[in-house]
Order: sequence, then structure tokens, then C-alpha cells
Amino acid sequence: MDKLKTLLTILSDGEFHSGEAIGNELNITRAGVWKLVRQAKNTGFSIQGISRQGYKLMQPISFLSAKKINSFLSDECKSNLKCLEIFNEIDSTNTYLLQRIYEFSKIPRACLSELQTQGRGRRGRLWHSPYAQNIYLSLLWKFDPSKTDFQGLSLVIALAVANVLEKLNLPHEIKLKWPNDIFIAEKKLSGILIETRGEMHDGAQVVIGVGINVNMTTRSAHKINQPWISLFQLLKKTVDRNKLAADLIHEIMAYLKKFNTHGFTPFKKAWEKYDMTYGLAVKIECHDNIISGVARGIDDAGRLQIETNENNKIAINVGDVSWED
Ligand code: BTN
Repeated sequence: MDKLKTLLTILSDGEFHSGEAIGNELNITRAGVWKLVRQAKNTGFSIQGISRQGYKLMQPISFLSAKKINSFLSDECKSNLKCLEIFNEIDSTNTYLLQRIYEFSKIPRACLSELQTQGRGRRGRLWHSPYAQNIYLSLLWKFDPSKTDFQGLSLVIALAVANVLEKLNLPHEIKLKWPNDIFIAEKKLSGILIETRGEMHDGAQVVIGVGINVNMTTRSAHKINQPWISLFQLLKKTVDRNKLAADLIHEIMAYLKKFNTHGFTPFKKAWEKYDMTYGLAVKIECHDNIISGVARGIDDAGRLQIETNENNKIAINVGDVSWED
């Protein structure tokens, strides 16, 4: 990955660079350069190669940078966030924080990576995480010791992400699928994975992972087995991931603070605006059971209310919702 990063950094000015000049900088042969360019193309980057001129990157690229992200954060947010790390490559940003959850003393802390080799989704699924195109962000957060009720947390994080996305003026409505999937035009744009380790007597700690398809194109995403969309496809332009990351960190921390003090109640109305399945026939996979019925919104604790096909009203805490066409 380091060689790939160097290649993309050389090409990031959008000018032509000869195979020879690139080879000299990377200390590899011209055939090696050709192979690396092929790797970059397979990863999803559009690179033009013209004989005697060399190679040129067709879309702008900027790498994640803690310095740039910090420059977009307010002073208050910067002083609240105790640590921000950027990785070029990692198995999973959530796994990284989870495995060290009891070691870290600087909390809240956030990390992002250009690539995840084992990006994880909900219910053991994979999260496709190609190099230098998307956001893979995890935040380690500690709640006040007095806080014991976390009902609705997933929904609150989805609302924070939706609020950041609203500022991008997307051409379609943002919709949230309970508990925390973000859809645009019925295609998944972003997913959230919230994990914790055990019970903490002096305040529960959670790892909040957010994946957003930002500049990903179809080239790099042939492995995704569900309808998806990226911000690049929606806006027809490359989105600054550093600014987006800063806005996410800011918004998620602000929402967590409010949730810590006031619980889910102040967020319920906002959820109703985004609710994707309200009034629809849905199926919920929950603890190896499948429940079918009509979605009737959420209750005060953020639980999904279902009117089952047997005319019972139930409220669901966890589960995977799909809708019937
Ligand atoms: C889902 O919709 O299934 C949840 C996807 C969560 C993906 C993010 S990317 C950053 C963090 N690290 C991971 O391995 N997963 C989450």
C-alpha cells in the first residue's frame, strides 16, 4: 500500500508523469510502474496512460490528514477530542479501538483509515473498504457513570450522520432504515456499527463505527451484494473526505453529549422525518426469528413498532429490517 500511496501522491497534481520518472521515485522498473498503475486502476482510480507522455490521474485525490481534519474542527471540539489517528491500512477501525478499549485513557478518541482489510458490517457482514475513497471512521466514547439506558443510541448516531449529509445538498432525500442504515434513492450510502465490551462500573464505553461511500465508483465496488450509492455518484464531483470526517466527528460528539444528558426523547421527532419504512410491509430478522407486519414508526425509546400480520402490536429492540415490495 505504501508504494500505491506514493504513486497516487505523485499523480495527485493531475499532470502527466512519465513511467521513468515515477519508477525513479519509487525505485522500481517501468514494468513495475505499469503493474502498480494496473493495481491502482483495479482499486478504483481512473488513470490515463499515453505513450511518451506517461500517466495522469483523471480525478483529484487528497489523502486523509489529521492536520487537515483538525483545521476544520472548532476549538471546543478539538479540546474535547483527546486523540485523532489516521491509518493508511488497518484490519478494521472498530476492531482497533475495541481491542484496546481498556488500555486507552485518552477518550474520546477517533481513528480513520484509508483502507480496511477486514471492514466489518452489522450481523457479521463485510464492509467493502477500498483504498483512499471512502470514510471509515471509529470513535471511542465513554458515557457518564450515571448513564445506564442506551436505548435509541444507534438511531441517534444515524441522525448525526444524516445531519452532516444534509449540508451537502444531495439531489435526493436522505432516508434512515431502523436502526441505523442510511439510504438515498433506496440504495445504501452509509452504515453504522456500534460495539461495546462488557459492563463498565465507572461509565459504559462504546465504539461507534461509521462507513460512508464517498468517492467510490463502480470500478472498485463490484463485490458489494446490495444496492449502494456514493456521494460522488450523487453530486458528480469528488467530496473532500477531511472536511466530511471533521463534520462527522463534531456532529457525532455533539449528539452523544445530548443523548448522554437527555436520552432519546429529543431525537424522536427528527427520526420520524427520515423514517424509511413507516407504513410499509416489512420483515424483521431478530434472534433467528422472522417477524412480518407493518412498520408503525418508533416508540419513545426508539424501538421499532410493528403491527404483525396477526394484528398484534409489538416493539422491537434489535433486528434486521427488510421491506416487501
Ligand atoms: C453496516 O451497515 O453493516 C455497518 C457498517 C459499518 C462500517 C464501519 S467502517 C468503520 C468501522 N470499522 C468497521 O470495521 N466497520 C465500521
